Amino acid sequence: MRSRSKRERWAENAELECVHEPDLSEVAAGRAYLRGRWAAVHFGDEAPLTLELGCGQGLFAVDLARRFPDRSYVGVDVKGHRFWRGARLATDEGVRNAAFLRARIQWLDRFFGPGEVSEIWVTFSDPQLADKRGTKRLVSPFYLRLYQHVLAMGGVVRVKTDSPEFAGHALEAAREAGMEVVDHSGNVHGEPEGRFDAELTRSLAFITAFEERWIKEGRRIHYVELRKVVEVAPADLAEAQRMLQGPTERVSPRVPGGLPASAD
Ligand SMILES: C[S@@+](CC[C@H](N)C(=O)[O-])C[C@H]1O[C@@H](n2cnc3c(N)ncnc32)[C@H](O)[C@@H]1O
Repeated sequence: MRSRSKRERWAENAELECVHEPDLSEVAAGRAYLRGRWAAVHFGDEAPLTLELGCGQGLFAVDLARRFPDRSYVGVDVKGHRFWRGARLATDEGVRNAAFLRARIQWLDRFFGPGEVSEIWVTFSDPQLADKRGTKRLVSPFYLRLYQHVLAMGGVVRVKTDSPEFAGHALEAAREAGMEVVDHSGNVHGEPEGRFDAELTRSLAFITAFEERWIKEGRRIHYVELRKVVEVAPADLAEAQRMLQGPTERVSPRVPGGLPASAD
């Protein structure tokens, strides 16, 4: 595939049916986008919905969509030029159960309704270890509460990371946010055969673009799986929304949709 500039990718994204690039200044102002309507409006069926948050190139989301045609997948990233690659591939291959959303994860509840999602992957997110407030680290208690809000009861969050600290933060945050810890591995690719069920083994075997870099540097890959077992309390959800969507979440006119280009 010929390489494209960012501008060329943005222009192509605008033509691809699987790409959603809502006006993010409107979303920041409180407007919902497709919330509660992904099945009816985009996918046209009631298949369970999986999100990949911070999907980057989006190739993992496309791989999952190919393997599980009875599920729907939405890759979410603020950098549309990155997921252009996955969106192009899904379009060219006719993979209709994969879509991409250009958005900030802070506003997840404006894109997905309560219980609309059954599974969330968080793949190789920046560990943000200096983030004391928990407004940047995608597994802080604030984020987990936002995820619980959009997850159906029993739905899962699957975290893959090269950072032992990030994995540790996810486990701690799960306790604070009332999520059940289902599994934790500190060396995904070194586990004995049969350690995970067949589906998960195959999903974990997919190496993302950032994962490839970390493996080359000799880092071990961690996996954390959390399950929603209680509804998030309204006061906790309101606090998470205030912390993540407060006045520091500014909107800049520098890129289409009004968000700063550098979000990771
Ligand atoms: C380190 S990359 C990992 C990409 C991909 N998951 C992989 O493993 O190759 C992190 C990605 O998350 C996106 N990202 C970081 N913070 C985000 C946020 N708050 N909202 C949306 N996307 C975000 C970045 O734009 C970037 O593409």
